[in-house]
Amino acid sequence: MKAVGAMVAPGRTTNELNDVAHQMIVDAGAVPSFLDYRGYPKSICLSVNEEVVHGIPSDRVLVEGDVVGVDIGVYFQGFHIDAAWTFPVGAVSKDVAMLLRVTEEALVAGIAQAVVGKKVGDISAAVEAVANRHRLGVVRELIGHGVGASLHEEPAVPNYGTKGKGPALKAGMTICIEPMFNLGTYKVKTMPDDWTIVASDRKPSAHFEHTVAITESGPVILNAE
Ligand code: MF3
Ligand code: CO
Repeated sequence: MKAVGAMVAPGRTTNELNDVAHQMIVDAGAVPSFLDYRGYPKSICLSVNEEVVHGIPSDRVLVEGDVVGVDIGVYFQGFHIDAAWTFPVGAVSKDVAMLLRVTEEALVAGIAQAVVGKKVGDISAAVEAVANRHRLGVVRELIGHGVGASLHEEPAVPNYGTKGKGPALKAGMTICIEPMFNLGTYKVKTMPDDWTIVASDRKPSAHFEHTVAITESGPVILNAE
């Protein structure tokens, strides 16, 4: 993620970012989780501007003012981790900078609720509250999830919900918390490539995700040093 983030600049193609990530994952003796997942054709997802998630790397050239969501899954020694970060390409507008800051803030707020004895709804409500404060659209059709031997496991971890509701959080659970917020409408649609999800009004979108372990001593971000 760090290497890809460092490469993000005007003039880069999304294929170049994909290829570097692929090589680093393979060189580490791991497998890109997304490659061939339900027929997905590339190793990571790169979603530009109004693309919310699941953008397919291509010859598209990034330009100043774009944002690119980088979503990376790695399978290593029997387990997956899944993480996403949205990077600005050069200078971005004030609104877009706010979108990135607030979506990251929501991820942090959600992780703070990933505590033994709380419920999934506590995470969901905390994430949603951050979006609401800034009048951002909370994507509903895509959600966080449990992760482990499979990329997607129980429980579902929506970015909206009610405090105190949903499955109990227990020590040993590993979940992906992944707010997806839009500058405009929360509504999304799928592009004709059958993968790329875009904001219906084509306004910019952001996605931040960590894989989090719930432990007796609090949340642990597994995709961090
Ligand atoms: N990171 C995505 C998620 O959390 C998975 C992308 S699946 C792919 O569900 F097939 F698009 F790669
Ligand atoms: Co995920």
